[in-house]
Amino acid sequence: MNALTSVLNAARALHASHSKLHAFAPWPDDLTPANLPSRPLPASDLVANTHLTGVDMTQPLIDAVRATAGFANWKHTYREDEVGADFLARYGYYELFGPTGHFRTTKLRGYIAYWGSGLHYDWHSHEAEEIYLCLSGNARFLCRNNGTEHMADLSPGDTRAHTSWQTHAMTTAHQPILTFVLWRGTGLAGLPLMAT
Ligand SMILES: [Fe+2]
Repeated sequence: MNALTSVLNAARALHASHSKLHAFAPWPDDLTPANLPSRPLPASDLVANTHLTGVDMTQPLIDAVRATAGFANWKHTYREDEVGADFLARYGYYELFGPTGHFRTTKLRGYIAYWGSGLHYDWHSHEAEEIYLCLSGNARFLCRNNGTEHMADLSPGDTRAHTSWQTHAMTTAHQPILTFVLWRGTGLAGLPLMAT
């Protein structure tokens, strides 16, 4: 049994119960387990050792992520010269399912992503369409629409969607944020790029 099956099951239950998530995309029906090795990062220890409180709907996924944090293949998209050492020490994500995830599918990509408190995730974009769900903590999300900036403060259970190549950013204040992120459509296998 894959070590992250409990995370996948909790994510599936949350997807089924959250209207914004199942409206974004159906749950992929072609998931197959892949044997990705565990890859710890400083952020994976923070996730495992920090008490993270959500709402009833998100708590089971938070608990599953924390309990299995040591088994996940944690990654950084960015380099130190792009975001700084403190950012890399307190941020990390893994691909739960998708083209290169712990469970393989070509239909949808799902990430678990964490940022510590007081971090600014600068303007970036990617081809795939995206929806963030805040599991625990909070953050201010920024996006640009035809030159106009919009912002929203997300708390547990709240979502924020971005269209293809829409530039967006995020800032945490006094709390870390744990998120579940879905990507769909063209560019599913791509990566985000920092705005230049
Ligand atoms: Fe994004």
